[in-house]
Amino acid sequence: MRKKTVVLGVTGGIAAYKAAALTSQLTQKGIDTWVILTESAARFVTPLTFQTLSKHHVFVDTFEERDPAVVSHIDLADKADLFVIAPATANIIGKMAQGIADDMLSTTVLATVAPVLICPAMNVHMYAHPAVQRNMNILKEWGYHFAEPGEGPLACGYTGKGRLAESESILTHIEYLLKKGNRKTDLKGKRVLVTAGPTREKVDPVRFFSNRSSGKMGFAIAEAARDRGAEVLLVTGPTSLPKPSGVITYPVESAEEMYHAVMEKIEEVDIVIKAAAVADYRPKEVHDQKIKKSEGQLIIELERTKDILFEIGKRKKHQFVVGFAAETKDVEYYAKDKMSRKNVDMIVANNVKLVGAGFEEDTNVVTIYVKNGQEISLPKMSKREVADAIFDQIMGLLEQRE
Ligand code: CTP
Repeated sequence: MRKKTVVLGVTGGIAAYKAAALTSQLTQKGIDTWVILTESAARFVTPLTFQTLSKHHVFVDTFEERDPAVVSHIDLADKADLFVIAPATANIIGKMAQGIADDMLSTTVLATVAPVLICPAMNVHMYAHPAVQRNMNILKEWGYHFAEPGEGPLACGYTGKGRLAESESILTHIEYLLKKGNRKTDLKGKRVLVTAGPTREKVDPVRFFSNRSSGKMGFAIAEAARDRGAEVLLVTGPTSLPKPSGVITYPVESAEEMYHAVMEKIEEVDIVIKAAAVADYRPKEVHDQKIKKSEGQLIIELERTKDILFEIGKRKKHQFVVGFAAETKDVEYYAKDKMSRKNVDMIVANNVKLVGAGFEEDTNVVTIYVKNGQEISLPKMSKREVADAIFDQIMGLLEQRE
């Protein structure tokens, strides 16, 4: 196999010293590693450290063109199978989100078409700042990968989220991305229907029953499908997320409305992914007027909603159908049970009690169960990466079908 090349960008935070160990681990794994330091990073750790570990010249200055045969930043950008920025400061994240290219690292990363893994490390308050969060969201929307920082004591004296992710976790992420290869457009010509978010079941004009689903997983799936070339229909319950561009969105409220929206489209689509957390019960009676309080208990009788996935399973012909199973225990048992009971091709299961796998989080930890008995357990990843991993599996299975 051809040796893989990682271009490692190191920016100026104290965690820059950990990037030296990362360089050493990468080269020991046989990965050709080229390092770019920002000026600030070079104040924490010297280029000579990285040169010794990577066995290559280390780049700091955009205009230091050592090889007249190439333009260094383009050469490095093209060489990369994967671009990693570790540690990534708030500054480089901000520059990347705005397309600023004012030094060797920001210029090279702008010029690459390789996948990019960003490993943020900074003070807890900087990490939580809306500007940094917004910039990271912009980059996630464009398909950049993130290794979430860890929580714990920070060099600045604070304790909280902002530590560079553990090197083991960064390495696993790098190996996963190298295996996966470049951004693809393998869903061109396919129509994908995604459901997302919670449903709301009305009690009276001011109250409803709902659940903690944020819609983030379903939206990430819709965006991944769009970026891979699919035509995407997104049926979504109420969420606070912005409508993804380039996706046809159908907002709904209740399970009943979601059922009708899905059934209307089901014949026309190739892949259905039901990431929505659909209410299983709704109030039997919806009051026209606000219920006034009175002494004693209030009993609201509930009745079952339609199980949309079950109905899809009954009707499905050519469609590849994926269900989700959010569980709090016995994940494997319930996932497999849902797969056979609802006649679906794949179940994406997660234990919502695990840290980093729950509702409202930006990450997820899932196992994919396939009808043919295959099981794929994925590491903790951003929801966008989980979405891509789901499509990687689906496309592999569809190729076998053809
Ligand atoms: N689902 C659905 N319609 C419902 C309930 C669930 O389409 N009325 C779908 C979900 O979108 C998800 C899958 O079924 O893809 C599993 O949802 P989950 O709530 O985990 O399972 P349930 O079937 O509701 O089973 P239980 O509540 O017993 O766990």
